[in-house]
Amino acid sequence: MSGLITPMALRVAVTLGLPDRLRDQPATAHSLAPDLKVDPLALDLLLAHLTTLGVVERTDAGYRTTSFGALLGADAGNGLNNLLHHDTAAGRADLAFVDLIHSVRTGEPAYPLRYGQDFWTDLAEQPHLRDAFDRQMNDRIRDWIPQIVAGFDWSRFGTVVDVGGGHGSLLAAVLAAHPAMRGHVVDLEATAAGARALFDAQGLADRAEVTAGSFFDPLPTGGDAYLLFDILHDWDDEQAHRILARCVEAAPPDGRILVVESIGGIGDETWFDLVMLVHFGGRDRGLEDFKNLAAPHGLVVESVTPVVGGRSVLEFRKHPI
Ligand SMILES: C[S@@+](CC[C@H](N)C(=O)[O-])C[C@H]1O[C@@H](n2cnc3c(N)ncnc32)[C@H](O)[C@@H]1O
Repeated sequence: MSGLITPMALRVAVTLGLPDRLRDQPATAHSLAPDLKVDPLALDLLLAHLTTLGVVERTDAGYRTTSFGALLGADAGNGLNNLLHHDTAAGRADLAFVDLIHSVRTGEPAYPLRYGQDFWTDLAEQPHLRDAFDRQMNDRIRDWIPQIVAGFDWSRFGTVVDVGGGHGSLLAAVLAAHPAMRGHVVDLEATAAGARALFDAQGLADRAEVTAGSFFDPLPTGGDAYLLFDILHDWDDEQAHRILARCVEAAPPDGRILVVESIGGIGDETWFDLVMLVHFGGRDRGLEDFKNLAAPHGLVVESVTPVVGGRSVLEFRKHPI
């Protein structure tokens, strides 16, 4: 219950690159310290705790990364390194959790208190954070994609506009499974460029458009469904209304708005609610919250389909058709 020390020790280990550094060649704290620009005695204390955790082990030649510790390596393929490093989008944002009490007191994100501006502004100004965030999003959705594609009837829609669609990996899989469908990703410039590259690489450029822009501005028309995957939970109600309004104004009268996220009470993950609060001032909403959010836009819930990763597809239609 008092465990702030171990999570921070793991994050510092990743930030210093210790799991990779000690992977093949053991080393002592004293030999490593000058290169890492750290204090040798303090590094030894850290490595001793990492030994207790089983991340490294002691050998005659110094500390060496264990197979467990290798899971924290940059190339481990599990996304952990990107989540824990102090200078990635998630790792940096999580440090704002020391001000969780501020968020609980005010309902406001703690991130700007620590960094002076909001998460998205930081990403716009620091390309390495934007890259890290896009990678994090791709890592998290990769294993879910087959179930999301199979678990919902996408073929009903001629064109899906993926609003805040990231690199478009889900949309690409949907289009690959349904050759008659078309898709359109809208995201901010740097991320939109990644979506273009992915569609080109997968030979989908003739069916998949990409628009660089903000979902607070008018969205492309021509979609039968407007998809918001893990978008609304990043925003407070006021901003969520603005995003929904853009989708509704772009959608045709019989169009659908598909909100995919963790619906509170349906396989929800409580820790994630706190992440949304501290990073963004957002939250996962319950079904009633979504109905209330959508009602002023003339939207009614048509179906709720649990898919994967605690996420459900919440399908809204305009009322009346
Ligand atoms: C949590 S990610 C979800 C990405 C994607 N839908 C997925 O599920 O993998 C939120 C996305 O919203 C995008 N985003 C943030 N602010 C935006 C804005 N004002 N206009 C368009 N996209 C935005 C981010 O770039 C990011 O790709």
